[in-house]
Amino acid sequence: MLIAPPLSNSQGKLPLADFKKQSNADLAVQIGQLKRELGSKLLILGHHYQQDEVIAHADLTGDSYQLSQLAAASRDCRYIVFCGVHFMAETADILANRPEKLTERKEAQVTVMLPDMAAGCSMADMAAIRQVEDAWEQLGEVVRTERMIPVTYINSAASLKAFCGRNGGIVCTSSNAAAVLRWAFERGDRVFFCPDQHLGRNTALKMGIDADQMPVYDPYAETLGGNTPAAIENSRVVLWKGHCSVHQMFTAAHVAQFREKIPGVRILVHPECPREVNDIADVSGSTSKIIQTVQQAAPGTKWAIGTELHLVNRLKAQHPEQEIHFLSPVVCMCATMYRIDLAHLAWTLANLVEGSVVNPIKVDSEVAHHSLVALERMLDVK
Ligand code: 13P
Ligand code: SF4
Repeated sequence: MLIAPPLSNSQGKLPLADFKKQSNADLAVQIGQLKRELGSKLLILGHHYQQDEVIAHADLTGDSYQLSQLAAASRDCRYIVFCGVHFMAETADILANRPEKLTERKEAQVTVMLPDMAAGCSMADMAAIRQVEDAWEQLGEVVRTERMIPVTYINSAASLKAFCGRNGGIVCTSSNAAAVLRWAFERGDRVFFCPDQHLGRNTALKMGIDADQMPVYDPYAETLGGNTPAAIENSRVVLWKGHCSVHQMFTAAHVAQFREKIPGVRILVHPECPREVNDIADVSGSTSKIIQTVQQAAPGTKWAIGTELHLVNRLKAQHPEQEIHFLSPVVCMCATMYRIDLAHLAWTLANLVEGSVVNPIKVDSEVAHHSLVALERMLDVK
């Protein structure tokens, strides 16, 4: 597994250490004041997996799809502070600074900041662009890549999104993966799905594609990702060997234990969970679908939910009328997203008020251009 080295935080006029010393209560007051000073120029976006203390300060919250739409729609703001992970901030930069938005704003750029540069995503790091390009070349020796559509989950580096844009491909999120796969099959014979094998497999299985036609491409295998030419020729979806370290912790045994312990419990999971869990769950869906399912359920419904811990705990607090359990006995949380805390948020905002931008996320213009092609295709898919 390739994990990119953590990027260091850029300094800014005010040192981070001064904020780390303060209590959360003091930091929360300060953040409120700083937000008022920055006014409508500032937009704080928060992913649903973020810790509660941080979510309390987000102007808008959502899952990956909603946040990309919000960044795409941003009008007045000049600064986006992204309380999520690196690929989300990159996507916000690409969408908020796309040509039509720049024209609308008379060329004024939106500066995107990630309060802690070490807030990366291990899944995105599992598909380095050089590995993906090498795989594409190898696959091209066996099948016609002009008829193979590259699809990348939004949880990927901008360079991989750009690769998809350049090669007739598209981005998907967990909310629209099935619609995106349908889009891809209207344009080609097979799909090259990166980097989450589980989302790719679970979605394609639901569409009736046979598991035998989904070889897994291991970038560390010697040739063809560890597959025979015949397996690639027979494929409908070639799955990249990547996963989410949080969601792959849920197992079929956890589901069985809950069903035995709590009769009538409903199992609600994210499609980043492995197939063995997805197949036996009552409901599987994106972060937004998980939230909506709980919101719409009758009082007294019992749930065991397989997704990031902070979201499950928030649902538990917001829905005391229901019985909500976390599907695993071990802590499954997005440790990188958790790095963004009130100290980092206050530090970022206080520096901004002082005129100093810390941790800007700026995607190279060539990469942004091609990523945008793949992202806009996704935003157009209904
Ligand atoms: P969604 O926000 O698309 O549900 O994805 C979950 C996730 O893992 C975000 O990194
Ligand atoms: Fe990446 Fe998983 Fe964290 Fe999402 S939950 S950011 S996929 S590590």
